Amino acid sequence: MVEHKISANSPIGVFDSGTGGLTVVRQLRDLLPNESVLYFADTGRLPYGTKPQSQVREFSVEIAEFLQERGAKALIIACNTATAASLSALEATFPGPVIGVIRPGAQSAVAAAGKDGRVGLIATDGTVQSGVYDRELEDLGLKSALVKQGCPDFVTLVESGLEDKDAVQDAIKRYMKPFHDSPVDALILGCTHFPLLSEYITDELPGVKLVDPAIQTVTTLKQMLEERGLLAGLGSQAEYKFFCSGDTDAFKKNLLMVLGRDDYPVEHVAW
Ligand code: DGL
Repeated sequence: MVEHKISANSPIGVFDSGTGGLTVVRQLRDLLPNESVLYFADTGRLPYGTKPQSQVREFSVEIAEFLQERGAKALIIACNTATAASLSALEATFPGPVIGVIRPGAQSAVAAAGKDGRVGLIATDGTVQSGVYDRELEDLGLKSALVKQGCPDFVTLVESGLEDKDAVQDAIKRYMKPFHDSPVDALILGCTHFPLLSEYITDELPGVKLVDPAIQTVTTLKQMLEERGLLAGLGSQAEYKFFCSGDTDAFKKNLLMVLGRDDYPVEHVAW
Protein backbone atom coordinates (compact mmCIF):
# COMPACT_ATOMS: atom_id res chain seq x y z
CA MET A 1 0.00 0.00 0.00
CA VAL A 2 1.24 3.54 -0.83
CA GLU A 3 2.02 5.38 2.42
CA HIS A 4 0.65 8.93 2.67
CA LYS A 5 1.82 11.34 5.31
CA ILE A 6 -1.28 12.52 7.11
CA SER A 7 -1.68 15.88 8.79
CA ALA A 8 -4.47 17.93 10.38
CA ASN A 9 -5.45 19.18 6.93
CA SER A 10 -5.77 15.68 5.45
CA PRO A 11 -9.33 14.64 4.57
CA ILE A 12 -11.74 12.57 6.65
CA GLY A 13 -12.67 9.32 4.90
CA VAL A 14 -16.39 8.50 4.98
CA PHE A 15 -18.19 5.53 3.47
CA ASP A 16 -21.59 3.93 3.06
CA SER A 17 -23.24 1.50 0.69
CA GLY A 18 -24.66 4.54 -1.09
CA THR A 19 -26.54 7.77 -0.47
CA GLY A 20 -27.26 7.26 3.25
CA GLY A 21 -23.84 8.34 4.49
CA LEU A 22 -24.45 11.74 2.93
CA THR A 23 -26.71 12.42 5.94
CA VAL A 24 -23.49 12.18 7.98
CA VAL A 25 -21.59 14.39 5.52
CA ARG A 26 -24.40 16.93 5.92
CA GLN A 27 -23.64 17.10 9.66
CA LEU A 28 -19.88 17.20 8.98
CA ARG A 29 -20.37 20.17 6.69
CA ASP A 30 -22.41 21.99 9.40
CA LEU A 31 -20.34 21.08 12.46
CA LEU A 32 -16.80 20.83 11.01
CA PRO A 33 -16.86 23.20 8.01
CA ASN A 34 -13.05 23.30 7.63
CA GLU A 35 -12.68 19.55 7.20
CA SER A 36 -12.11 18.02 3.78
CA VAL A 37 -13.99 14.83 2.95
CA LEU A 38 -13.30 11.78 0.76
CA TYR A 39 -16.57 9.85 0.43
CA PHE A 40 -17.03 6.36 -0.98
CA ALA A 41 -20.53 5.27 -2.06
CA ASP A 42 -20.55 1.55 -2.81
CA THR A 43 -23.71 1.79 -4.94
CA GLY A 44 -22.44 -0.93 -7.30
CA ARG A 45 -22.76 -3.46 -4.43
CA LEU A 46 -25.71 -1.97 -2.50
CA PRO A 47 -27.68 -3.03 -0.49
CA TYR A 48 -25.47 -4.07 2.41
CA GLY A 49 -28.39 -4.72 4.76
CA THR A 50 -29.39 -8.03 3.18
CA LYS A 51 -25.85 -9.41 2.81
CA PRO A 52 -23.96 -11.66 5.27
CA GLN A 53 -21.86 -9.75 7.83
CA SER A 54 -18.66 -11.42 6.59
CA GLN A 55 -19.21 -10.02 3.10
CA VAL A 56 -20.03 -6.51 4.40
CA ARG A 57 -16.83 -6.69 6.48
CA GLU A 58 -14.77 -7.58 3.36
CA PHE A 59 -16.26 -4.61 1.47
CA SER A 60 -15.61 -2.28 4.42
CA VAL A 61 -11.96 -3.32 4.76
CA GLU A 62 -11.44 -2.82 1.02
CA ILE A 63 -13.00 0.68 1.11
CA ALA A 64 -11.05 1.69 4.24
CA GLU A 65 -7.79 0.73 2.45
CA PHE A 66 -8.87 2.72 -0.62
CA LEU A 67 -9.50 5.82 1.53
CA GLN A 68 -6.30 5.30 3.52
CA GLU A 69 -4.29 5.12 0.27
CA ARG A 70 -5.76 8.50 -0.68
CA GLY A 71 -4.58 10.08 2.55
CA ALA A 72 -7.61 9.87 4.90
CA LYS A 73 -6.57 10.89 8.44
CA ALA A 74 -9.70 9.42 10.08
CA LEU A 75 -12.58 7.16 9.12
CA ILE A 76 -16.33 7.48 9.62
CA ILE A 77 -18.25 4.27 8.96
CA ALA A 78 -21.37 6.18 7.88
CA CYS A 79 -23.41 3.00 7.65
CA ASN A 80 -25.00 1.13 10.55
CA THR A 81 -24.81 -2.23 8.77
CA ALA A 82 -21.09 -1.79 8.07
CA THR A 83 -20.51 -0.53 11.63
CA ALA A 84 -22.15 -3.66 13.04
CA ALA A 85 -20.06 -5.85 10.73
CA SER A 86 -16.68 -4.14 10.74
CA LEU A 87 -16.06 -1.55 13.48
CA SER A 88 -13.65 -3.76 15.46
CA ALA A 89 -11.83 -4.92 12.31
CA LEU A 90 -11.31 -1.35 11.11
CA GLU A 91 -10.32 -0.06 14.57
CA ALA A 92 -7.60 -2.72 14.55
CA THR A 93 -6.22 -1.90 11.10
CA PHE A 94 -6.85 1.76 10.23
CA PRO A 95 -3.98 3.98 11.49
CA GLY A 96 -6.12 7.01 12.52
CA PRO A 97 -9.32 7.53 14.54
CA VAL A 98 -12.26 5.33 13.46
CA ILE A 99 -15.87 5.94 14.42
CA GLY A 100 -19.08 4.11 13.58
CA VAL A 101 -22.63 5.38 13.96
CA ILE A 102 -24.11 2.83 16.38
CA ARG A 103 -22.63 3.84 19.74
CA PRO A 104 -23.34 7.55 19.09
CA GLY A 105 -26.87 6.58 18.00
CA ALA A 106 -27.48 4.58 21.18
CA GLN A 107 -26.13 7.46 23.31
CA SER A 108 -28.43 9.94 21.59
CA ALA A 109 -31.42 7.63 22.04
CA VAL A 110 -30.87 7.30 25.79
CA ALA A 111 -30.41 11.07 26.03
CA ALA A 112 -33.70 11.56 24.16
CA ALA A 113 -35.85 8.92 25.90
CA GLY A 114 -34.15 8.67 29.33
CA LYS A 115 -33.13 5.31 30.88
CA ASP A 116 -36.75 4.61 31.83
CA GLY A 117 -38.02 5.53 28.37
CA ARG A 118 -39.10 3.29 25.51
CA VAL A 119 -36.87 3.20 22.46
CA GLY A 120 -37.56 1.92 18.95
CA LEU A 121 -35.14 1.04 16.16
CA ILE A 122 -35.65 1.08 12.42
CA ALA A 123 -32.68 -0.27 10.49
CA THR A 124 -31.64 -2.79 7.85
CA ASP A 125 -32.29 -6.47 8.57
CA GLY A 126 -28.51 -6.91 8.99
CA THR A 127 -28.34 -4.29 11.75
CA VAL A 128 -31.52 -5.51 13.49
CA GLN A 129 -30.32 -9.14 13.47
CA SER A 130 -26.82 -8.22 14.71
CA GLY A 131 -28.29 -7.16 18.07
CA VAL A 132 -25.62 -4.43 18.38
CA TYR A 133 -28.07 -1.68 19.28
CA ASP A 134 -29.69 -3.89 21.96
CA ARG A 135 -26.28 -4.47 23.56
CA GLU A 136 -25.18 -0.83 23.39
CA LEU A 137 -28.48 0.38 24.88
CA GLU A 138 -28.35 -2.18 27.66
CA ASP A 139 -24.76 -1.09 28.47
CA LEU A 140 -25.99 2.50 28.67
CA GLY A 141 -28.62 1.47 31.22
CA LEU A 142 -31.81 1.48 29.11
CA LYS A 143 -34.33 -0.55 31.10
CA SER A 144 -36.94 -1.58 28.55
CA ALA A 145 -36.46 -3.86 25.53
CA LEU A 146 -35.95 -2.27 22.15
CA VAL A 147 -38.89 -2.33 19.70
CA LYS A 148 -37.30 -3.20 16.34
CA GLN A 149 -38.29 -3.19 12.70
CA GLY A 150 -36.16 -4.01 9.64
CA CYS A 151 -37.03 -1.68 6.73
CA PRO A 152 -35.13 -2.87 3.63
CA ASP A 153 -37.48 -1.12 1.16
CA PHE A 154 -36.59 2.28 2.61
CA VAL A 155 -33.04 1.88 1.27
CA THR A 156 -34.16 1.29 -2.33
CA LEU A 157 -36.72 4.10 -2.14
CA VAL A 158 -34.07 6.60 -0.97
CA GLU A 159 -31.56 5.43 -3.59
CA SER A 160 -34.15 6.11 -6.28
CA GLY A 161 -34.50 9.68 -5.02
CA LEU A 162 -37.86 9.19 -3.17
CA GLU A 163 -39.60 9.78 -6.49
CA ASP A 164 -42.42 7.25 -6.04
CA LYS A 165 -44.41 8.96 -3.26
CA ASP A 166 -47.12 6.24 -3.15
CA ALA A 167 -44.51 3.55 -2.62
CA VAL A 168 -42.92 5.68 0.14
CA GLN A 169 -46.29 6.13 1.90
CA ASP A 170 -47.06 2.42 1.58
CA ALA A 171 -43.69 1.47 3.11
CA ILE A 172 -44.13 4.01 5.93
CA LYS A 173 -47.54 2.51 6.85
CA ARG A 174 -46.15 -1.06 6.82
CA TYR A 175 -42.95 -0.39 8.72
CA MET A 176 -44.35 1.97 11.39
CA LYS A 177 -47.06 -0.50 12.49
CA PRO A 178 -44.98 -2.03 15.35
CA PHE A 179 -44.65 1.45 16.87
CA HIS A 180 -48.43 1.90 16.87
CA ASP A 181 -48.75 -1.50 18.59
CA SER A 182 -45.90 -0.76 21.09
CA PRO A 183 -45.49 3.02 21.32
CA VAL A 184 -42.01 4.45 21.89
CA ASP A 185 -40.66 7.78 23.15
CA ALA A 186 -37.69 7.89 20.79
CA LEU A 187 -37.03 6.13 17.49
CA ILE A 188 -33.47 5.52 16.29
CA LEU A 189 -33.04 6.10 12.57
CA GLY A 190 -30.61 3.18 12.57
CA CYS A 191 -29.76 3.26 8.88
CA THR A 192 -28.10 6.36 7.50
CA HIS A 193 -30.58 6.43 4.61
CA PHE A 194 -33.52 6.94 6.98
CA PRO A 195 -33.07 10.57 8.15
CA LEU A 196 -34.16 11.40 4.58
CA LEU A 197 -37.59 9.99 5.52
CA SER A 198 -37.91 11.97 8.76
CA GLU A 199 -40.86 14.08 7.63
CA TYR A 200 -42.87 11.04 6.55
CA ILE A 201 -42.08 9.23 9.82
CA THR A 202 -43.05 12.24 11.95
CA ASP A 203 -46.37 12.51 10.09
CA GLU A 204 -47.06 8.86 10.89
CA LEU A 205 -45.73 8.92 14.49
CA PRO A 206 -46.32 12.44 15.78
CA GLY A 207 -44.71 13.14 19.14
CA VAL A 208 -42.01 10.48 18.79
CA LYS A 209 -38.48 11.92 19.02
CA LEU A 210 -36.46 10.90 15.97
CA VAL A 211 -32.81 10.14 16.67
CA ASP A 212 -30.32 10.76 13.86
CA PRO A 213 -27.02 9.20 15.04
CA ALA A 214 -25.04 11.45 12.67
CA ILE A 215 -25.04 14.47 15.01
CA GLN A 216 -23.44 12.64 17.96
CA THR A 217 -21.11 10.78 15.57
CA VAL A 218 -19.64 14.02 14.24
CA THR A 219 -19.51 15.57 17.74
CA THR A 220 -17.55 12.57 19.05
CA LEU A 221 -15.24 12.54 16.03
CA LYS A 222 -14.46 16.20 16.65
CA GLN A 223 -13.30 15.32 20.18
CA MET A 224 -11.19 12.42 18.85
CA LEU A 225 -9.50 14.66 16.28
CA GLU A 226 -8.89 17.39 18.87
CA GLU A 227 -7.27 14.91 21.26
CA ARG A 228 -4.86 13.78 18.53
CA GLY A 229 -4.10 17.27 17.19
CA LEU A 230 -5.78 16.32 13.90
CA LEU A 231 -8.50 18.98 13.67
CA ALA A 232 -8.17 21.02 10.45
CA GLY A 233 -6.97 24.58 10.96
CA LEU A 234 -9.55 27.39 10.97
CA GLY A 235 -8.19 28.87 7.75
CA SER A 236 -8.12 25.59 5.86
CA GLN A 237 -10.26 25.30 2.76
CA ALA A 238 -12.54 22.23 2.85
CA GLU A 239 -12.51 20.09 -0.30
CA TYR A 240 -15.04 17.35 -0.99
CA LYS A 241 -14.44 14.45 -3.33
CA PHE A 242 -16.78 11.52 -3.99
CA PHE A 243 -16.12 8.01 -5.32
CA CYS A 244 -18.91 5.76 -6.47
CA SER A 245 -18.85 2.11 -7.57
CA GLY A 246 -22.24 2.36 -9.36
CA ASP A 247 -23.94 4.84 -11.66
CA THR A 248 -22.38 8.29 -11.16
CA ASP A 249 -25.33 10.23 -12.67
CA ALA A 250 -27.79 8.64 -10.23
CA PHE A 251 -25.39 9.40 -7.38
CA LYS A 252 -25.07 13.05 -8.46
CA LYS A 253 -28.87 13.39 -8.33
CA ASN A 254 -28.78 12.13 -4.76
CA LEU A 255 -25.95 14.54 -3.91
CA LEU A 256 -28.29 17.31 -4.96
CA MET A 257 -31.15 15.85 -2.89
CA VAL A 258 -29.09 15.55 0.31
CA LEU A 259 -26.36 18.20 0.09
CA GLY A 260 -28.12 20.62 -2.24
CA ARG A 261 -25.24 20.54 -4.74
CA ASP A 262 -24.24 18.31 -7.62
CA ASP A 263 -21.07 20.10 -8.69
CA TYR A 264 -18.72 18.16 -6.40
CA PRO A 265 -16.21 15.92 -8.21
CA VAL A 266 -17.52 12.34 -8.50
CA GLU A 267 -15.20 9.60 -9.77
CA HIS A 268 -16.35 6.16 -10.84
CA VAL A 269 -14.48 3.23 -9.30
CA ALA A 270 -14.87 -0.05 -11.19
CA TRP A 271 -14.70 -2.97 -8.73
N1 DGL B 1 -27.03 3.01 4.94
C1 DGL B 1 -26.80 1.72 5.44
C2 DGL B 1 -26.99 1.61 6.94
O1 DGL B 1 -26.84 2.60 7.64
C3 DGL B 1 -27.19 0.47 4.70
C4 DGL B 1 -28.13 0.47 3.55
C5 DGL B 1 -28.01 -0.80 2.77
O2 DGL B 1 -27.13 -0.84 1.90
O3 DGL B 1 -28.75 -1.77 3.03
O4 DGL B 1 -27.22 0.55 7.47
